[in-house]
Amino acid sequence: MTKLRLFALLLAFAPALGFAAGPAVKLESAGTDLSDKASLQRGAGLYMNYCAGCHALSLHRYSRIASDLDLPPELVEQHLMPAQARIGENIHTGINAGDGNAWFGKAPPDLSLTARAKHGGSDWIYTYLKGFYIDEARPMGWNNTVFPGASMPNVFWELQGIQRPVYDQGADGQPHLVRLELASPGRLSPQEFDRVARDISAFLEYVAEPAALKRESIGVWVLLFLAFFTFIAYLLKLEFWRDVH
Ligand code: HEC
Repeated sequence: MTKLRLFALLLAFAPALGFAAGPAVKLESAGTDLSDKASLQRGAGLYMNYCAGCHALSLHRYSRIASDLDLPPELVEQHLMPAQARIGENIHTGINAGDGNAWFGKAPPDLSLTARAKHGGSDWIYTYLKGFYIDEARPMGWNNTVFPGASMPNVFWELQGIQRPVYDQGADGQPHLVRLELASPGRLSPQEFDRVARDISAFLEYVAEPAALKRESIGVWVLLFLAFFTFIAYLLKLEFWRDVH
């Protein structure tokens, strides 16, 4: 009986435990907009150039990206795909898990569903991409605010610049990371880099749920239909009541 009670008690606290497993830092809002095709197209281009070398999107085909994002298939073939790939193929990467483990200590995971799997969704990805900072203690020389100890190198240091952590003495006497500061500027301004991070986050949000694009465009028609129908109903009401008065 006591065991059962203990179990019930644990269950009661389960939501709190789940909450504790969330990221330690506050996530920034990515401000993604899936109806912004230009943003998704830029995100696809950035992803293929900066991420696809390590991360596959194995649940997705190049051809699907072309049709969903209104990109001409020839353009996708020429600029967004590795030379040996075919347009009808799923998006794989050149790195196999063994090499990934050997080079980074961890194989780069498939990102097909990451925007749905992460607590915070595309906000997590956005904050992650902006959260790399220099840390000599790490094997790659980089650490990350939302993903402490991540074995991914900062692929955007040239664009973003190099960020340095600023610590504060906490109540427990331990140093706490309070914010990042730009130690040396990159090729892009902070606002321009925010857009890069936002476009990639939006692209991965779309990849994790391609149907969301359709749903948003259907939603507009449903609302228009409802507005139109309300208008007809109003005319009908006028018509009925005319005889009553
Ligand atoms: C040089 C290889 C490499 C490149 C390029 C790279 N990554 Fe990674 N990435 C990794 C590795 C390795 C990990 C695993 C980190 C870990 O678990 O410690 C990772 C982890 C991640 C994660 C966390 C996934 C999870 O499930 O925890 C995300 C999100 C991510 N990368 C996004 C990106 C994006 C977006 C780009 C392009 C801008 C990119 N990565 C480019 C190697 C890479």
